[in-house]
Amino acid sequence: MIIETDRLILREWKMSDIEDNVEGLNNFNVTKNLTVKFPYTKQDAICFIEKHRNNDEENYYFAIQLKNENKVIGGTAILVDKHNMIGKGGIWINEKYLGKGYGTEVWIARAKFAFENLSLKKLQNGYFEFNEISWKMQKKVGYKIVGEKTNFSKALNQKVKEIVTELTKSEFNKALEKNFKQINFTFKVLEDNKYS
Ligand SMILES: CC(C)(COP(=O)(O)OP(=O)(O)OC[C@H]1O[C@@H](n2cnc3c(N)ncnc32)[C@H](O)[C@@H]1OP(=O)(O)O)[C@@H](O)C(=O)NCCC(=O)NCCS
Repeated sequence: MIIETDRLILREWKMSDIEDNVEGLNNFNVTKNLTVKFPYTKQDAICFIEKHRNNDEENYYFAIQLKNENKVIGGTAILVDKHNMIGKGGIWINEKYLGKGYGTEVWIARAKFAFENLSLKKLQNGYFEFNEISWKMQKKVGYKIVGEKTNFSKALNQKVKEIVTELTKSEFNKALEKNFKQINFTFKVLEDNKYS
């Protein structure tokens, strides 16, 4: 299963993505915002891809590939709690590609897929208290702050305060109307292997 947006393809991870996975995640500026360890090695990438390359209806791990280029610039996931119809999971973008709107493009596609294709009730996320960029991105697509909890950053090797956020379908639709009205947004879910 593949999601296509204007500039990106979200697809299952492949062993040939190892190098791009390491390039993106072996970076303290990225991993300090995640629960991923630092340094992040080739062996870590192999373990991750071996474990998560086959998606099923409760686990969607996507490599974020630049359309028409064989370059993976990030990763995202939707982990489905089927009992409560809630989706969890995060996002990272390779530091070289930050600030070009890719994160927002993924975050919109991910939410559309969650609500329109998986019929989830809400998405639950969060961000470490110092990660203002993540909050900026989440807020723009309609996320609300619902609480806080303590998490552990392996990269920082310390406890961190995580601000817990949630997105409902109605808040998402309101945000799309308010903040992305002018954008003719491409969103296709493809069943074939066109980009694999
Ligand atoms: C959070 C993240 C995914 C955003 O990705 P991105 O591709 O840079 O996002 P966008 O380009 O869509 O930008 C989102 C917003 O952040 C702003 N932004 C991006 N980089 C910025 C920077 N270096 N300084 C200030 N603002 C920045 C953008 O301007 C945009 O706001 P705007 O729409 O009001 O202009 C990315 O920063 C990342 O991977 N960070 C490390 C891992 C991480 O934090 N993951 C999320 C964990 S909760």
